[in-house]
Amino acid sequence: MKARVTASASYTIGDIDKRLYGSFLEHLGRAVYTGIYEPGHPAADAQGMRTDVIELVKALDTPICRYPGGNFVSAYNWEDGIGPKEDRPKRLDLAWRTTESNQVGIHEFADWADKAGTDMMLAVNLGSRGLDEARAFVEYVNHPGGTYWSDLRARNGRKEPWNCRLWCLGNEMDGPWQVGHKSAAEYGHLANETAKALRGLDPTLELVVCGSSHSNMPSYPQWEATVLEATYDQIDYISLHMYFENYEKRTDEYLALPLKLDRYISTVSGVIDYVKAKSRSKRDVRISFDEWNVWYHERKQDAQRMRDWDWPEAPRLLEDIYNFEDVLQVGCILNTFIRRCDVVRIACIAQLVNVIAPIMTEPGGPAWRQTIYWPFMLASRYGRGTALQLAVEVPFYSAAVADHVPYLDIAGVHDADSGTLTFFAVNRHATEMLEAELRLDGFKPRSVEHTIIKHDDLAATNTRSAPDNVAPRKGEGASLSGGGLSLALPPHSYSMVRVQ
Ligand code: AHR
Repeated sequence: MKARVTASASYTIGDIDKRLYGSFLEHLGRAVYTGIYEPGHPAADAQGMRTDVIELVKALDTPICRYPGGNFVSAYNWEDGIGPKEDRPKRLDLAWRTTESNQVGIHEFADWADKAGTDMMLAVNLGSRGLDEARAFVEYVNHPGGTYWSDLRARNGRKEPWNCRLWCLGNEMDGPWQVGHKSAAEYGHLANETAKALRGLDPTLELVVCGSSHSNMPSYPQWEATVLEATYDQIDYISLHMYFENYEKRTDEYLALPLKLDRYISTVSGVIDYVKAKSRSKRDVRISFDEWNVWYHERKQDAQRMRDWDWPEAPRLLEDIYNFEDVLQVGCILNTFIRRCDVVRIACIAQLVNVIAPIMTEPGGPAWRQTIYWPFMLASRYGRGTALQLAVEVPFYSAAVADHVPYLDIAGVHDADSGTLTFFAVNRHATEMLEAELRLDGFKPRSVEHTIIKHDDLAATNTRSAPDNVAPRKGEGASLSGGGLSLALPPHSYSMVRVQ
């Protein structure tokens, strides 16, 4: 199969906010306990943080990490996680029917984030709690000193404020499953009042209001319109979430889902424009896509486990084992975010360790990379700069979610500082090699490097005993000719091609 692509230096979408490669850690299952934190583990540092995990996170170069939830945050008392560890209360976590030991709280997470080279994106509880606890939390985290909360922080060992810039006003408040679920009008009012109070503390904070939990929600997209009308002049981002499933084992349908993601982004972008016009506002609100990933491998079994168990501490939960097919999906999702970087400024892979995560650990044992670690790492490290508006001519197929699914999913990024042009490409075709000719207008290519992730078995996984079964290797499918680029992309493959 043939494809023709044109990339031009002067035809761009916009600058990519590095926070497009954000991540997420929730107090859920083993994400925190035996994920990042395991005192007594051979690789644990003096604070009990696993340094083997920190090294894997650092290599991902994820610039922000959202914390502490997720559904968990909607019944969380942040004060339970401060002060001497032996005095911290154990609490029932209503979101996941587990027991929370509170041995990790804001101090431990902030120190971990520092070691892992990532900034905090914090969420306040607008489910079981409200404005007052939110303002206390922000004051505790960000105020320099001389007040009740900031002095308490200093007494708890942290004199300097952490100065967290990015705050989520609750989580998935449109979802009936959420503790303290609200109607759009109720949530919009509370979010606006909370935003005003937080801006009273610091007008420069970046605030994220909850959008829809997914685009099949009955309240979507009216939820966005109502919430934005209530909050437009106080907030900076509206949060969207989407998880990708392949219960039917239909790879063609599965790999078409990023087109549904693209439509979701377009619709919410339209709602933002509508409310901006209606509010006569000059302000630009953008999208924070702060939960996305493949999530279906263990989902049904997990629902049963949760029903059966008796409030365990840090159980195995949402431990999806990813396969090679998911590499292709994650590649297409990241490409979609790059192509929509005009409006999506923040995106967080959900989650980071053990829980629907690119990194797995065994208690007392090793940490390893799941298959999806690789496309995320390559995009995060090399997908920085300006996104190019590519013109793509390629055959397509029809799927349930879209009539025109191109066999080639491609995104292009120009890093003007290093003069590098990077393409991320997925061949969606099951059996045909994709031969693509790329015209590179306004670039003077001298050398090319091809990195490929390919496995003959879509179901191939990385496990503790075979951690490198699915991994990138040097490809042979890229060459320069006459100022252009020729690519030969094997069926069902993910590629990164870098031209200098
Ligand atoms: O990431 C797992 C869960 O998915 C989060 O807690 C919630 O926000 C979403 O429904």
